[in-house]
Amino acid sequence: MRQWGPTTRRGPDLRTDTTPVRAPRRGRSRRWLLGASAVVLVAAGAATAVVLLDPADSAGTVTTAPTTPAPTTTAPTTTAPTTTAPTTTAPTTTAPTTTAPTPRTPPSTPPEPAPPPAPPTFDRSRLSIDAPDSIWVVVDKLRSLAPIDYRPADLVDVGGGYQLRSEAARAMTEMLAEAAAAGLVISVESAFRPYDHQQRLFANAVARFGEDGAEQRSARPGFSEHQTGLAADLGGGGCHIESCFATTAEGQWVAANAHRFGFLVRYPDGSQGITGYKFEPWHVRYVGVELATELHDTGVATLEDFFGLPAAPEYAG
Ligand code: DAL
Ligand code: ZN
Repeated sequence: MRQWGPTTRRGPDLRTDTTPVRAPRRGRSRRWLLGASAVVLVAAGAATAVVLLDPADSAGTVTTAPTTPAPTTTAPTTTAPTTTAPTTTAPTTTAPTTTAPTPRTPPSTPPEPAPPPAPPTFDRSRLSIDAPDSIWVVVDKLRSLAPIDYRPADLVDVGGGYQLRSEAARAMTEMLAEAAAAGLVISVESAFRPYDHQQRLFANAVARFGEDGAEQRSARPGFSEHQTGLAADLGGGGCHIESCFATTAEGQWVAANAHRFGFLVRYPDGSQGITGYKFEPWHVRYVGVELATELHDTGVATLEDFFGLPAAPEYAG
């Protein structure tokens, strides 16, 4: 039976199970603690011994191992600040500075209108207005041909027994062909006239209209565009070298289209004070498509106006 249990207790026995209670083994624990302590001390001593050996033996393999980790830990620390986190922030601050003037630019840009492209200027000095064989030659009561009996060298037939300079003849042929295609029959009724021919014509005009009347209708010899081989008189629609030509479909077609072929109506209505001649809707003068188109497009009526020449209503003497 149990001899040691209940006898050693003073208070009531509250135990319900029957498991025997064993006395603590104090002696055995102490031995374990002492042993463990000894191990710890030995280990500590060994560690100390190693540490003490470290500085002396720098070449020691063991020593190097613990020493290395120390700077290794420092390295990442240095790298961390170097992470350039602040450095990255720096450019960010610079960026807004650059962006600041940007908004100022837009307001200043719109007010500056792009300059319109300069229109191509017509070169009025490209060809001579003095040389008798120039297609730009200007002949009027103040500008006689020089020489006075000038005769072009490249006259060709243009139909009806008349002649024009080759370039003007080609243009005339094209123009009349296009008019014909439009159902309009236009014919050349006068073209190149040499000096002596013009002399006879003027004399006949004086006889018919009187001197003042002749001066408004016919040029003196040496002062007529017909002598250049670049002028022609046209007829059609039942009207032949008369003012009625302006009222015909043929005359109106010429007025509207002649520039496309290099011709202009040289003595327009209302320009007698400049040209010296009454309105001649039948008289066309070849100057080339470039100049004729420029005159048409700019609305300049006379060569005198276009080239800045003085009006020539009368002869100088
Ligand atoms: N009928 C023009 C003006 C001339 O005779 O030349
Ligand atoms: Zn004429």
